[in-house]
Amino acid sequence: VYTREEVGRHRSPQDRVWVTHGTEGFDVTDFVELHPGGAEKLMLAAGGALEPFWALYAVHNQPHVLELLREYKVGELSPEEAAPPPDTTQDPFAGDPPRHPGLLVNSQKPFNAEPPAELLGERFLTPNELFFTRNHLPVPKVDPGTYRLRVEGPGGRVVSLSLPELRSRFPKHEVTATLQCAGNRRAEMSRVRPVKGLAWDVGAISTARWGGVRLRDVLLAAGFEPEREGEWHVCFEGLDVDAGGAPYGASIPYGRAVNPAAEVLLAYEMNGQELPRDHGFPLRVVVPGVVGARSVKWLRRVAVSPAESPSHWQRNDYKGFSPCVDWDTVDFTAAPAIQELPVQSAITQPRPGATVPAGELTVKGYAWSGG
Ligand code: MTE
Repeated sequence: VYTREEVGRHRSPQDRVWVTHGTEGFDVTDFVELHPGGAEKLMLAAGGALEPFWALYAVHNQPHVLELLREYKVGELSPEEAAPPPDTTQDPFAGDPPRHPGLLVNSQKPFNAEPPAELLGERFLTPNELFFTRNHLPVPKVDPGTYRLRVEGPGGRVVSLSLPELRSRFPKHEVTATLQCAGNRRAEMSRVRPVKGLAWDVGAISTARWGGVRLRDVLLAAGFEPEREGEWHVCFEGLDVDAGGAPYGASIPYGRAVNPAAEVLLAYEMNGQELPRDHGFPLRVVVPGVVGARSVKWLRRVAVSPAESPSHWQRNDYKGFSPCVDWDTVDFTAAPAIQELPVQSAITQPRPGATVPAGELTVKGYAWSGG
């Protein structure tokens, strides 16, 4: 039986890393490096309660997470301290937009949802309300009047663009592109061998007609050349930030960003409408053929760098491994970041397990060429 003060003395690997959840105490020292969200995120909670962090990363509020945590239990909080600390943190997701009731929700906070397969297969362009949503953090509230995109040009020159400037200075370009999350069909994959992550069905993929400006045009206007010697990456940052203030970020190779045929877009329209809040209002990146993770929403900053984005989601997530790698042996630095995705296809109708009439049957589905 421990006091909160005793738990609070364990906040480094040398002193062991302890956390509490409810009335229980856990020594998670050996789990820190395995934490899917990154060691430094878990260390923010070291010596104290997990609840305020789990309120932000509500993906933790699933039975298997508590099960995993229980493996590390070392004791109970003393009864006079048992009540969790008063929750002074407001719900960071309270400002999220309303959503369509037809979506299948994989996680409410952060919001992750997909269209039902039957509806996805219905139309070539997915209606905005049903387009799958993959958020890692609360949806930022952006005032379009004061919004500026920061583009860092060569030699430290910074270009700051308002929405009207983006629309007036660059020609509008439209592209029909499919976005897919790397986790699409993970529920099926897990039936072959369990994998960690959201249990997406076949709907973490959707198609829209995107309208905006070419990233290439913006980069050239900032002073970059269409050709650049050596290895360069175009890094994006979103306005959504985690508890430690770090934004969502990702990058793509420079060559793709400036290749006119790759049609990388900074989009402000989706299917002829203003970009919806869940999909990046007022401006997002759309990288056709590439894993959705690189299509950064609520875009605030574009920079060219000799290294990939330092973001957790570029370096320690969205990487592929061979089947012999498991959670205990994985080395994220050893694998390249996913860019182009492979061919994908799925049957949307009839659904698995459905009873179908004898005789001729119409089967519907989708197929996508990936990169
Ligand atoms: N951009 C920001 N700023 N924050 C995010 O959480 N999620 C990424 C990407 N861009 C994300 C982001 C991931 S993993 C995917 S698959 C796509 O957005 C999903 O885009 P959508 O929600 O519009 O379908």
